[in-house]
Amino acid sequence: MRLKDRVALVTGMAMGIGEATAELFAAEGAAIVGLDINEKQGAEIQKRIRAQGGQCLFQVTDVGSEEAVKKAVRAGLDEFGRFDILVNVVGIASEGAVHEMETAEWERILRVNLTSMFLTSKYVLPGMLTQGRGSIVHITSVQGLMGFAGYPHYAASKGGIISLTRQMAREYAAKGVRVNCIAPGTVETPLNLQVLARSPDPEKLRTAWLKMHPIGRIGKPIDIAYGALYLASDESSWVTGHCLVIDGGLSASGPI
Ligand SMILES: NC(=O)c1ccc[n+]([C@@H]2O[C@H](COP(=O)([O-])OP(=O)(O)OC[C@H]3O[C@@H](n4cnc5c(N)ncnc54)[C@H](O)[C@@H]3O)[C@@H](O)[C@H]2O)c1
Repeated sequence: MRLKDRVALVTGMAMGIGEATAELFAAEGAAIVGLDINEKQGAEIQKRIRAQGGQCLFQVTDVGSEEAVKKAVRAGLDEFGRFDILVNVVGIASEGAVHEMETAEWERILRVNLTSMFLTSKYVLPGMLTQGRGSIVHITSVQGLMGFAGYPHYAASKGGIISLTRQMAREYAAKGVRVNCIAPGTVETPLNLQVLARSPDPEKLRTAWLKMHPIGRIGKPIDIAYGALYLASDESSWVTGHCLVIDGGLSASGPI
C-alpha cells in the first residue's frame, strides 16, 4: 500500500476526478477527509469507501467559504489527528468572453477554483509544518498553460494555480512540505457532461475533443488520480513545484 497510515484531505470528492482520487487513495491505505457541496453523492462515496474497509469522513463544505473550510479541517483533525496529504480538486467552469462577462461570474470562478486552494492550504499547512512532512497537489488544467477561447475566468484561475504551486513549493520545500499540480486535458466527468449539454452541437464538440488528444481518447478520472497518487506518495519525494501534464498528448501537439 502506497499511502498506508496517511491522512488525506480531498476536495471535490463527490464526483469525477475527486471521487476517483478519494477511492484510489483509500484503497492505497489513506484515511480520507472528503469535502464537497454535493451532500447525497458525498455520503454515497463515504459509504462505499467504508464498505471496502477504508476510512472516510465526508464533510458537506463549500470550499469557497473560509469559515466552512476552517470547520471541515477542524473536523478532520478531530477525527484523524493530522493531515499528510491535501489534494485540491474542486473546479467549476462556465462559458463566456471577457467583453460580455459579468464581474460577479469572473469572481465566482476565481473564488471556487483558486481562492479555495489558498483556503484549504492555509488551514492544513500549520499541522504539516509542525510535523515537518506533507504533500499538496492542486488540480489545474491544460487551460492554465495554453489558450482556449471561451473560458477566460477558468483559464486565469488555472494559471493562478500553477503560479501558486511554484510559489508554495519554494516557500515550504526546506520545511518538508512538497507542492505540485496536475494539468489534465479533457476528462470524462460530470463537469464535461455539463459542458456538452450546454453546447449547441454536443456531437461536434465531442468529436473535436477526441481529435485534440493524439492518444485517441479523452481521459478517465483514474488517469488523473494515478498522477495524484504518485505526487502524494513518497515515490515523488524529490519532486516539488512541478506541473504534471496528463492530457493524452494534447499539449504536445501542434495545430490539428
Ligand atoms: N474534466 C475535465 O476535462 C478537466 C480538465 C482539466 C481540469 N479539470 C479540473 O479537474 C478538477 C475536477 O474536475 P471534474 O471534471 O472532476 O469536475 P466535476 O464537476 O465532475 O466534479 C467537481 C466536484 O466538485 C464539487 N464542487 C463544486 N463546487 C464546489 C464547492 N464550491 N465546494 C465544494 N465542492 C464543490 C462538485 O460537487 C463535484 O463533486 C477541476 O478543478 C477541473 O477544473 C477537469
